[in-house]
Amino acid sequence: MRSLRIGVVGTGRIGSFHARTLARRVPEADLVGVADARPGGASTLAEELGVREFEAPWALLTSPDVDAVVIAATSTAHADLVIEAAAHGKAVFCEKPMAMTLSDADRAIAAADVAGVPLQVGFNRRFAPDFVAAKAVVDGGGIGRPQLLRSVTRDPGLVNPGAVPPWTIFTQTLIHDFDLLNWMNSGARAVEVSVMADALVAPDFKEGGLLDTAVVTIRYDNGAIGVAEASFSATYGYDVRAEVFGSGGMVTVGSPRQLTMEHWDGSGVRGLTARGDTELFGDAYAGEFSAFCSAVLSGGTPVVTGTDARAALAIALTCITSVSTGGTVRVGAEVSP
Ligand SMILES: NC(=O)c1ccc[n+]([C@@H]2O[C@H](COP(=O)([O-])OP(=O)(O)OC[C@H]3O[C@@H](n4cnc5c(N)ncnc54)[C@H](O)[C@@H]3O)[C@@H](O)[C@H]2O)c1
Repeated sequence: MRSLRIGVVGTGRIGSFHARTLARRVPEADLVGVADARPGGASTLAEELGVREFEAPWALLTSPDVDAVVIAATSTAHADLVIEAAAHGKAVFCEKPMAMTLSDADRAIAAADVAGVPLQVGFNRRFAPDFVAAKAVVDGGGIGRPQLLRSVTRDPGLVNPGAVPPWTIFTQTLIHDFDLLNWMNSGARAVEVSVMADALVAPDFKEGGLLDTAVVTIRYDNGAIGVAEASFSATYGYDVRAEVFGSGGMVTVGSPRQLTMEHWDGSGVRGLTARGDTELFGDAYAGEFSAFCSAVLSGGTPVVTGTDARAALAIALTCITSVSTGGTVRVGAEVSP
C-alpha cells in the first residue's frame, strides 16, 4: 500500500494525540516528523514515536521529506500555517477553526486552490460511524424534509476559566455543531442566527468575557431551523448528540456512554461515560486521517473542505454579533473575534 509522508505542526494536547493516531492507527500514513513553535516542544513526542523533531514549524513545512501536514497548532496560527504549507506544495489537514476571520478563511482557501493542494479541516464528527449512519438516513430521504435540527456539545469540565479566550464557545466548541448542522442539512445555507449565552458554570469570570453556556438558533434558507447548544461543564463526561427531525420521521445520534455495559443493582443502573473527546471520538479521529490520506493519494477531493470550514466559521462569527447586539443577525458579516 502507498502511504503519505506526514508531518504534524503543533504538538500540544490534540497534536500529540493526532501524531500517535497517525503513527499507530492509520496504515496509509507515514508519520515522518513533528514540530512546535516552542523550541524543543516536540522532542519527547518525537522520541516516543521514533520520528524526527523538526527544529521549527518552517523547517517541517519546507521539507522535501514531507508530502502533507497536519496543523494542530493554536487556532490563531492556523490560517497562516495553511497558507505557508500550501505555498510549499504540501497537502493540508488543518484542525478547526481553519481561520479566525472570514477574510483569513478566504486567504487559506485561495492559497490551497492556487497551489492545487488538497485541504481538509478537522470536523471529526463527520467520521464517527453513528453520525455517518444518521447522515445516510437523512440524505436518503428517510426522515423526509428536514425541519428541526439539533446538535449538543457538553465538555467535561472547565479547569481554568480565566484562561479561556473570548468567544471560545462559538469559535472553538460550537463550530463543531455548526458544521454538523450544515452537513446534516445538505445543500442548505445558514441565513440567520440568534444566541442566548451566559457564564453559568463560572459566573465570576463573566465580567472578563467568559461564556460557558450557550444556545444558538439558526435559520436555513430551506426553511429548516437548527439549534446548537453547549456547556463547558458536564459532570458526567464528554457528551455529543444530534437529532434531525423532518416531515417523515427523525434520526437521533450520539451518546456519552463509552461502553454498552450497564451495572444493575439495588440502587439502579450505572454505565461508564467517556471523559473526553479523544475517548469518545477515537475512531472518528483515525477515520478522518484515513480519509485525508486516501483523498490525497488518489488525487480526490477531501470530504470536509475549506469552504465547509468557512461556512461553520461564518455562523460562529455571527454568534458574536448576536451576543453583542442581543438580536437576530444575518449570517456573513465580517467580525473579528
Ligand atoms: N477537532 C477536535 O476535536 C479538536 C480537539 C481539540 C483541539 N482542537 C483544535 O486543535 C488546536 C490545538 O488545540 P490543543 O488543545 O492541542 O491546544 P494546545 O494549546 O494544547 O496546543 C497548541 C500547540 O500549538 C503550538 N503552537 C502555537 N503556535 C504555533 C505555530 N505558529 N506553529 C506551530 N506550533 C504552534 C503551541 O506551542 C502548543 O504546543 C486548536 O485549534 C483546537 O481548536 C480540535
